[in-house]
Amino acid sequence: MSDRDADLTQLRAWVQAARRLVVFTGAGVSAESGIPTFRDALTGLWARFDPEQLATEAAFRADPSMVWRWYAERRAAIAAAQPNAAHRAIAALEGRGPRVSVVTQNIDGLHARAGSHEVLELHGNILRVKCLEGCGNPERIEPAFDWRADPREPPPCPRCGAPLRPDVVWFGELLPPDVFSRAERAALRCDLMLVVGTSALVHPAAGLPLLARQAGARIAVVNPQDTPIDALADHVLRGSAATVLPELLR
Ligand code: OAD
Repeated sequence: MSDRDADLTQLRAWVQAARRLVVFTGAGVSAESGIPTFRDALTGLWARFDPEQLATEAAFRADPSMVWRWYAERRAAIAAAQPNAAHRAIAALEGRGPRVSVVTQNIDGLHARAGSHEVLELHGNILRVKCLEGCGNPERIEPAFDWRADPREPPPCPRCGAPLRPDVVWFGELLPPDVFSRAERAALRCDLMLVVGTSALVHPAAGLPLLARQAGARIAVVNPQDTPIDALADHVLRGSAATVLPELLR
């Protein structure tokens, strides 16, 4: 039996024995749905920008139309994307014994579309909007308008008329406190955390695997590349999420 087979066999046993399993994901889990990761160069029209130049409140206030159009393009691409075998395998883990919490940095909504029930979106969701000025009750606004109707300009908030903005965490912004505290609690209580498709460079999200480890959880990493989390992982499965995760279910 190869080392990898032995790792997979042991990991399958850990999944089945776990009471609480956290799957912590990043852009790599959506790569095989055709959604570029952050560390891939920005493509096409946006190749000359860094995400940090677009995904900030200052950039939006300086040029709402440009930032809105960038998100409109990404939203259209994400709406056309389908969950891949990795998302589906993660959803299928719910039937294998443990209580599964998916804690994702992704804003594409693909885990929920694949059937995962408990999904904590640390960085928001590109398909939702909220008021730029945060008027009225902080609940998000489900727009009655069609995104593709006018991707050039951000529509006005129906309550106060300020521009609407994507309901995502921009650089320099805090994570939604309620979501992050639920993610911390899940990390502290889990027996096993699978860390899938994240470079683990952006904090505070990237601190969750260490939190889980310190609370006694086992850690497994799924990534074709090295990550800073490898050092504290019990198992590192080198490979793509859409290949490795379905193997876990076999
Ligand atoms: P990154 O683009 O930083 O990292 C993607 C990770 O996925 C890398 O470690 C790749 O090796 C790995 N990867 C690529 N293809 C894969 C595949 N097929 N299967 C498994 N892994 C694969 O994306 P994130 O780690 O998600 O924050 O980035 C974290 C945050 O940085 C993002 O949420 C965003 C960005 O700044 C905000 O927007 C606030």
